[in-house]
Amino acid sequence: MNAEEKSALLAPFAALKGRSFLTLRDYSAAEILALLDLAACLKGLKKKGLPHRLHEGKNVALIFEKTSTRTRCSFEVAAADLGAHPVYLDPKSSQIGKKESIADTARVLGRMFDGIEYRGFGQEIVEELSRYAGVPVWNGLTNEYHPTQILADFLTIREHFGRLKGVTLCYMGDARYNMGNSLMIGCAKMGMHFAAVAPKAYWPDAALRAECAAEAEKSGGSLTFTEDPLYPAKAGAQVVYTDVWVSMGEPEEVWAERIRDLSPYRVTLPLLEGAGEGCVFMHCLPAFHDLKTETGLAIYRKFGIDCMEVTDEAFESGRSIVFDEAENRMHTIKAVMAATL
Ligand code: CP
Ligand code: NVA
Repeated sequence: MNAEEKSALLAPFAALKGRSFLTLRDYSAAEILALLDLAACLKGLKKKGLPHRLHEGKNVALIFEKTSTRTRCSFEVAAADLGAHPVYLDPKSSQIGKKESIADTARVLGRMFDGIEYRGFGQEIVEELSRYAGVPVWNGLTNEYHPTQILADFLTIREHFGRLKGVTLCYMGDARYNMGNSLMIGCAKMGMHFAAVAPKAYWPDAALRAECAAEAEKSGGSLTFTEDPLYPAKAGAQVVYTDVWVSMGEPEEVWAERIRDLSPYRVTLPLLEGAGEGCVFMHCLPAFHDLKTETGLAIYRKFGIDCMEVTDEAFESGRSIVFDEAENRMHTIKAVMAATL
């Protein structure tokens, strides 16, 4: 790719250059669509083996205060493909938080790097990093939001159904955490029909629901909150989505209450088959669908269940598009870096 081709590819993103990507709340539907188009284009180049080193010589810092497979690998591979050099800071061996404040860390890293990814706890941390860094900061997951995941989910839905607008997505399980919140925000912006299918105590926060309801009204989408586990069939859901019942950073003790409260909302093959025609299953992963993990086995020994949020049968079925979704993490994260660096 020569200099002219690079600048032609990035020209539509002039307004995003230098901008952080902290939550989808900060991005318009048009900007989200443009990022998806860029991701699709970069995916095409990658599949054809065509180099796209759009940010040759730049450096990016990847801060992970929680563990990761997909997000870390996506940022590292995407940075390398763009010609940028990634530096990984693990949860234990930097000074962050223990000996150095977030504001100081941001000002130090901002002098050395062209962009910073942060995965960790409260959203206020990534917001503070962004305020002080002077370079774009990308949210690689906080307790409240997981915006890069939603871009991957939307690229996958668009590849599968050819569109986002009008698609009905039912989110089953703990809808008040990062995935439920972010899917609700994204669906509301893109004119999709979002349903949180969960006990009332697990619905997203009322203020965020109201903000998203206003967005959905503008976009032609809709939001539904229901405790009825059969809702995906009633709504003719095209996408049934779930996530782990206990998220990173939550205490072990909550497993018992989550298993009690959320078991009726487990995704099963009959549920998928009874939903909309061609209904697909999505999950941000990692998923507890069998006994091949330490946690899965420990839960089995303690509670006698051989899967949690999704049965192995549903996870392994032809309706499951979770690995397409996982691959798209890399292409969409690359688009975010390409557009904002
Ligand atoms: N979906 C996701 O964020 O996966 P990782 O925790 O492996 O990064
Ligand atoms: N809700 C999950 C998402 C993992 C990608 C967590 O925060 O652990």
